[in-house]
Amino acid sequence: MKPIAALATLAGLALAMTLAGFSLADDDEHHGRNGYKRPKRLAVPSGAPLVWKEECAACHMLYTPGLLPADAWREQMRTLGDHYGSNASLDPAQERVILDFLVRASAANRLPMEPSPTAGEPPRISQTRWFERKHDEVSEAKFAREAVGGRFNCVACHRDAEKGDFDEDRVKIPR
Ligand code: HEC
Ligand code: HEC
Repeated sequence: MKPIAALATLAGLALAMTLAGFSLADDDEHHGRNGYKRPKRLAVPSGAPLVWKEECAACHMLYTPGLLPADAWREQMRTLGDHYGSNASLDPAQERVILDFLVRASAANRLPMEPSPTAGEPPRISQTRWFERKHDEVSEAKFAREAVGGRFNCVACHRDAEKGDFDEDRVKIPR
């Protein structure tokens, strides 16, 4: 696509999304004039509870709260007993602390909650339109590489993903 055509497509998309009731500006103005830098909003806020850092990184990388809207985190925390086929439930007091933190720390994410395409699963970060847009140049074969492990494993390609750094200048897809 020629740059001009691409821009026109983008503008059309932005307009459609605005009409649909939410704003792309929040998300996609990464290099925009308003100076908005998504990585800042993705950074882990200070005062993140230890129980979140420990329990939610026991089986996979730690996903920073800004990666999902609050409703998606509510759904995550409501279904920990059947968490993508694993039992990730904690005691209710710990779950409460984690939920409160995730909801508070994701307030800037105003994207709609999207269900996982796999029935019965909680929402995923890696199966959203936002994710697809950010990875339009990454083939399924690359996500499937053994050294990557799958789309969910952001940290394989974004070394500082757990700090909320997804800058494309620092991406490296392992062989
Ligand atoms: C017992 C292991 C286990 C624990 C503990 C656990 N998870 Fe998971 N989580 C999984 C598995 C398995 C997947 C699916 C990975 C895959 O796609 O193969 C997953 C996936 C996810 C995803 C979706 C990733 C994507 O594809 O977008 C999120 C978000 C998530 N977990 C959040 C959490 C949070 C929050 C906690 C802490 C409350 C937590 N997990 C604790 C096992 C666990
Ligand atoms: C196979 C490697 C790979 C995995 C796994 C991966 N990414 Fe990416 N990501 C990339 C590449 C390559 C780009 C830039 C390419 C493009 O423009 O399509 C990118 C771009 C991005 C961007 C845009 C960065 C910018 O500067 O605008 C974000 C945000 C992002 N990824 C988040 C994630 C999240 C969140 C996950 C995990 C749920 C993830 N990525 C998993 C390779 C990966």
